[in-house]
Amino acid sequence: MKGGFSLPFTFRCLSRMDKMFHSAACVSLIGPLRFDRMLELRVKLMDMQHHWEKVYGTKAPDQVSWFRPHLEASLALIERSTRGDRSASIIDVGGGASTLIDDLIERGYRNITVLDISDAALDVTHKRLGKTLSESVQWLRADATQAGFPAHSYDVWHDRAVFHFLSAPEDRTAYVRNVALAVKPGGHVIVSTFGPEGPTKCSGLDVMRYDAESLHGQFGPRFKLVESSKELHDTPFGTRQQFLYCYCTLEQ
Ligand SMILES: C[S@@+](CC[C@H](N)C(=O)[O-])C[C@H]1O[C@@H](n2cnc3c(N)ncnc32)[C@H](O)[C@@H]1O
Repeated sequence: MKGGFSLPFTFRCLSRMDKMFHSAACVSLIGPLRFDRMLELRVKLMDMQHHWEKVYGTKAPDQVSWFRPHLEASLALIERSTRGDRSASIIDVGGGASTLIDDLIERGYRNITVLDISDAALDVTHKRLGKTLSESVQWLRADATQAGFPAHSYDVWHDRAVFHFLSAPEDRTAYVRNVALAVKPGGHVIVSTFGPEGPTKCSGLDVMRYDAESLHGQFGPRFKLVESSKELHDTPFGTRQQFLYCYCTLEQ
């Protein structure tokens, strides 16, 4: 594991698929077809993880197109959804090397989880925060579509620029299922993707583009759309990208 994430405060999250895959007994129980599907999923996961490990292993954190010194729109929505409750449990999904965690800690939030598919990304953030602050954070290295989340554990689910990489419908379904499981009833879901005029590729990968209706449509009626907004993001390379933010609440 790059960066030596054997540190005691780092919780390595085994996905449901990992657990099943490593269970030899399971293989005989699930039969050849299910096993083929699991193998296919595992290869896909390893490809994706490899891609992101390479990105964070070769580029400076502020030299990627999605970098912003501060995620202002995300912070404003998190502040709004938590209404001043600094004990709210917040998960930043695909947090990467972003500074959102620093800003949340600085504002006094003390129940924060950062999840990312890449160890290298988590390593960058962990090193930037330093030992003491890092120890106050839950770290999960996992694929958001496959991770086995504890039920109803988060008040706020935040994702900037992850969901739009899910180009396969079954990945989006698995992601939404995980949100509905992991977020507390009545909890808050903040998802930001490229907007209708955003790029069609990011980090060399094809991406989906959404307007508020189509993004909300991916999540379905259990999620009540509270607000949507668009943001023009200035990349470190002097280009502009349109992002869409959707803020929903999960039904009680
Ligand atoms: C474009 S970056 C955005 C990073 C950060 N959210 C931000 O706004 O600066 C996408 C991040 O999602 C992570 N990622 C991609 N696919 C993922 C998945 N299926 N599950 C968890 N993390 C994923 C990548 O490692 C990367 O850190």
